Amino acid sequence: MDSHKQFFSLLCLPLMLLLLSGLQVEGRLHPAYPSKKLFVFGDSYVDTGNTRKDQPGSWKQPYGITFPGKPAGRFSDGRLFTDFLAKYLGLKSPLPYKFRNVIPQNSKYGMNFAFGGTGVFNTSSSYPNMTTQIDFFTQLIQEKVYTASDLSNAVALVSVAGNDYNHYLATNGSAQAFPAFIASVINQTAINLIRIQKLGVKKIVVDGLQPLGCVPQITAASSFQQCNSTFNTLVALHNNLLNQTVTKLNQETNSTFIVLNLFDSFMSVLNHPSSHNLKDPLKPCCVGISSQYSCGSVDEHNVKKYTVCENPKTSFFWDLLHPTQAGWDAVYTNLQTTNALHQLRY
Ligand SMILES: *[C@@H]1O[C@H](CO)[C@@H](O)[C@H](O)[C@H]1NC(C)=O
Ligand SMILES: *[C@@H]1O[C@H](CO)[C@@H](O)[C@H](O)[C@H]1NC(C)=O
Ligand SMILES: *[C@@H]1O[C@H](CO)[C@@H](O)[C@H](O)[C@H]1NC(C)=O
Ligand SMILES: *[C@@H]1O[C@H](CO)[C@@H](O)[C@H](O)[C@H]1NC(C)=O
Ligand SMILES: *[C@@H]1O[C@H](CO)[C@@H](O)[C@H](O)[C@H]1NC(C)=O
Ligand SMILES: *[C@@H]1O[C@H](CO)[C@@H](O)[C@H](O)[C@H]1NC(C)=O
Ligand SMILES: *[C@@H]1O[C@H](CO)[C@@H](O)[C@H](O)[C@H]1NC(C)=O
Repeated sequence: MDSHKQFFSLLCLPLMLLLLSGLQVEGRLHPAYPSKKLFVFGDSYVDTGNTRKDQPGSWKQPYGITFPGKPAGRFSDGRLFTDFLAKYLGLKSPLPYKFRNVIPQNSKYGMNFAFGGTGVFNTSSSYPNMTTQIDFFTQLIQEKVYTASDLSNAVALVSVAGNDYNHYLATNGSAQAFPAFIASVINQTAINLIRIQKLGVKKIVVDGLQPLGCVPQITAASSFQQCNSTFNTLVALHNNLLNQTVTKLNQETNSTFIVLNLFDSFMSVLNHPSSHNLKDPLKPCCVGISSQYSCGSVDEHNVKKYTVCENPKTSFFWDLLHPTQAGWDAVYTNLQTTNALHQLRY
């Protein structure tokens, strides 16, 4: 860790001097780093505002109470992994695609094409699947919103957090065919990663699947006491295949594909909550008052049908599926102890 930091500061010093000398000559400010952009694809684990305001969830109270203080399109009380990764890269969180014509100047930090509820395949959600999200990106490149050099300096973040599997279980559910379905999800993910790479993005981060057997929707069966190993075994299958596929891609291309091991990071935080000032880690903060309601539900008189815990900053999970800002912060802190993120910096 420390030797890494030293290595970076040694590398950066001559670069900064170079930039500073350029600054004197030209007499105007240059950024300390070449401009970098973040492009985001996937689902609610990374979507920062693309879903519609009239739908349940991210645009309704009490979502966003911690950050920005009101509902703003994130499936959490506050910041998501996207926001932490942007900060790590020295950027503002990229603009949700939906707002590209409203605040076009903000497209300079990149763009967030992710839509909550989606998968690599069609799911029950009517929002664009990942193929269509990459089509939107392709369209913007054709419109010359981004140049080749923008793209080669960019980082892409790809999240496949389980909606394909939820949909499979809800519509088909054959346990026998599950391994084959996992293989097809990985195959489609690889097709997507290759498309993003061919568009010119050199660094592509893909999230490994989090321990689905530990999300409150599943652990509700045990009153939020224990993770379900049946689900986590399937997740391990997905993650191993993903790892193999990405290893192969790295051998075949000149791009850097990086798997973020969310499984281990979630487990590390869930197993050692107190080191992150978290309590009762499997218990969600915001829940419906009964099973027909969920976090954010109101009745026809606009009366709340959910409860929010006293202090979201000590909960890992926000609702039945999504971490709190504190949860993501802890996962991000844990990921920084691995080598994965270091490869994204210059
Ligand atoms: C993604 O959605 C598009 C448009 O709805 C559809 O044509 C395509 O088949 C879907 N792709 C996958 C891989 O399911
Ligand atoms: C995905 O859904 C779109 C409509 O949203 C439909 O046109 C398309 O055929 C579907 N594709 C697949 C592979 O199911
Ligand atoms: C359901 O399973 C069958 C047989 O494995 C497969 O052909 C079909 O595509 C599956 N449907 C969905 C929605 O996954
Ligand atoms: C996806 O599966 C198809 C058919 O099995 C195969 O031809 C193709 O090479 C696979 N693609 C990737 C990227 O693994
Ligand atoms: C885990 O989930 C499966 C599928 O829903 C269920 O059959 C099993 O009883 C659960 N196991 C535990 C320990 O809760
Ligand atoms: C795959 O897993 C192995 C063992 O956990 C790890 O060392 C390697 O870095 C992983 N590869 C990728 C591409 O993440
Ligand atoms: C990788 O880069 C080398 C040198 O720039 C080039 O010769 C080679 O064709 C590239 N390979 C691929 C798969 O892009």
